[in-house]
Amino acid sequence: MDETRSKSEGKETDDEFTEITLRPIELSDVDDFMEWATDEKVSQFCTWDTYTSKDQALDYIKNNAILHPWLRVICIKNRAIGAISVTPNPGCLDSCRAELGYVLAYKYWGKGIVTKAVKIAVSNIFEEWPNLDRVEAFVDVDNKGSQRVLEKAGFLKEGVLRKFRTIKARSRDMVIFSFLSTDVLFE
Ligand SMILES: CC(C)(COP(=O)(O)OP(=O)(O)OC[C@H]1O[C@@H](n2cnc3c(N)ncnc32)[C@H](O)[C@@H]1OP(=O)(O)O)[C@@H](O)C(=O)NCCC(=O)NCCS
Repeated sequence: MDETRSKSEGKETDDEFTEITLRPIELSDVDDFMEWATDEKVSQFCTWDTYTSKDQALDYIKNNAILHPWLRVICIKNRAIGAISVTPNPGCLDSCRAELGYVLAYKYWGKGIVTKAVKIAVSNIFEEWPNLDRVEAFVDVDNKGSQRVLEKAGFLKEGVLRKFRTIKARSRDMVIFSFLSTDVLFE
């Protein structure tokens, strides 16, 4: 028997976590989408409310996510485990700035996956949108993991915006980070 194969069969090895890809979302991703969207640990620091039904998820994927100017699912072996988006400044597709957002299913946290996804997204977006000068991200002051992701990717922490965003019905202080087209992504 091939020992290597029998040990790894049915399991994701650490090597597999280094091989992430990004692709547009599809309706058939709905069951994987539900894995993170229905999890309160995941939605805690996000502006959206935790999903409670598959119909709600299908509606969001069909009427928002698929139509979004730049939303990609983060995949391992083409299976969606999270999502990352870059949203142009509202009302202005030609804007010099856009906002980064991301989310990952809980069981994949702490493996460097979103840091990798951020680096891929940022390097792609400046090529795809030549008028873009700045990608920014707003992170709840208590969301330390997300702040660390941005620091690891090479974003600059610019400060704290007080009572800037409503999250789960509370006004929250948000840390603002930015990355310019002229900045250099960390290795
Ligand atoms: C935040 C999130 C995107 C991070 O994704 P991830 O793939 O686990 O991130 P990475 O593994 O690339 O990096 C996480 C870093 O944060 C650190 N971290 C995690 N929790 C932390 C905490 N409570 N305090 C300090 N550091 C923390 C990790 O140790 C790691 O840093 P290290 O590599 O120096 O050890 C993921 O946890 C998530 O999806 N959270 C819910 C959704 C969310 O908050 N989205 C962002 C909204 S702004």
